[in-house]
Amino acid sequence: MRLPYSFRRGIRMRIVVGSDHAGFALKEHVKSYLQRSGHHVYDVGTDSEESADYPDYALEAARMVASKDADFGVLVCGTGLGMAIAANKVRGVRAVQVMDPELAEMARRHNDANVLTLAGRYTDPATAERIVDAFLATPFEGGRHERRVGKIGAIEGEERPGTIDRKEA
Ligand code: RB5
Repeated sequence: MRLPYSFRRGIRMRIVVGSDHAGFALKEHVKSYLQRSGHHVYDVGTDSEESADYPDYALEAARMVASKDADFGVLVCGTGLGMAIAANKVRGVRAVQVMDPELAEMARRHNDANVLTLAGRYTDPATAERIVDAFLATPFEGGRHERRVGKIGAIEGEERPGTIDRKEA
């Protein structure tokens, strides 16, 4: 059996997972993969394939990451897109929807992403494992990326709806 990279390195993390009905099966798979790897996993639901609204789970998981009660979040809906949109509304969260391991690595290296969102209807379990491995194993590079990520945080602090004065074309 191929062991997760983070397990081989002996790094134990607190990871919150969540999904809607469309992401339930893949969320359950990822949860068990993370548990087998020795991580502490918190599951905010949903707990069946009965129809559920993804923003409810995104909010709960994103708040745990923002408050540092969890190191990372993994959220799954049908496409991963709604989960990313919703989770990114929580200040301090940088959620990315990822379909392959290379971009998972870049999202950590350059963007210091702290929430990974997966597409339950488009990503198979083996690929999801590789994506999760790449995400958890890759450190933030810092340096010039620190400044850029800092600017994202500044937008969160300053942006107000309707403050852009658009000229008519
Ligand atoms: C549910 O049908 C679907 O819209 C949801 O899982 C997600 O893909 C939304 O972004």
